[in-house]
Amino acid sequence: MNEPTPLLEARDLTVTYGGLLALHDLSLVVPPASIVGLIGPNGAGKSTCFGVLSGFVRPREGSVYIDGVDVTRATPQARARRGLARTFQRLELFDELTVREHLVVAYRAGRRRTLFDLVRYLPLDLIGVGARPAPGEDDAIDQIIDVLGLRSVAHVPAAAIGLGTGRLVEIARAMAAHPRLLLLDEPSSGLDARETEELSEVFRRLRDDEQVSLVLVEHNVDMVLGLADDVTVLDFGEVIARGSPDAVRNDPTVQAAYLGATT
Ligand SMILES: Nc1ncnc2c1ncn2[C@@H]1O[C@H](COP(=O)(O)OP(=O)(O)OP(=O)(O)O)[C@@H](O)[C@H]1O
Ligand SMILES: [Mg+2]
Repeated sequence: MNEPTPLLEARDLTVTYGGLLALHDLSLVVPPASIVGLIGPNGAGKSTCFGVLSGFVRPREGSVYIDGVDVTRATPQARARRGLARTFQRLELFDELTVREHLVVAYRAGRRRTLFDLVRYLPLDLIGVGARPAPGEDDAIDQIIDVLGLRSVAHVPAAAIGLGTGRLVEIARAMAAHPRLLLLDEPSSGLDARETEELSEVFRRLRDDEQVSLVLVEHNVDMVLGLADDVTVLDFGEVIARGSPDAVRNDPTVQAAYLGATT
């Protein structure tokens, strides 16, 4: 039986920062409409991995493919055009823009794929907030706002919202770009238990109803094990386990890595 071409594939990625080996020989396969978990203690190399997948960090060795196309040397923008979106571990919001405006910018950036679109928007407004909405834009954005429970803060500037809400805005913004592949770096940090459960449900719906694939980096191991189809565990840049959530949960090497990290 032929496997479908993975949406994303990383082969043998190695990253060094000066003399530090941050990631060693990491391979990762993300099938269409799947959730892949990437967990590991602090400093394991998870965010570095996202940096390489999204084009912000250049690997010393290895390759990244989207739909089987080698994008190892492609810019973050080129990868975004192929359907990849990511969130950052530290919030990267614009203080002055409202929650809704963040989504408008991302929505338009996600669709500004032709020269025609570029000509249509650029002379009017460089970041695109003021231009007239594209057909379907208002509804699509309202839907994301509702899904993430952001209606009451939709018109509040980012500077005035709390950390947990900012985290949701970051995720909403990534969704507004209409990605096929979403890389989420610690999406539940700053959220309480109820918000985390609601967010898990949003991720399930993205996979099951919208056929979006997600790669989930999390300190909340229970969240990942409850969501992911497949989990990779990193420690000091090395893959120490990989498999189903159950297999990973019961893996003694994984338990030792986490216990080691907390003592
Ligand atoms: N820009 C950088 N320059 C130098 N060293 C870095 C840089 N970014 C990360 N590192 C180091 O590389 C290693 C991996 O870091 P990374 O941020 O990828 O880990 P992580 O698994 O995301 O950790 P955390 O759970 O704390 O977010 C760490 O030792 C970190 O200190
Ligand atoms: Mg990190």
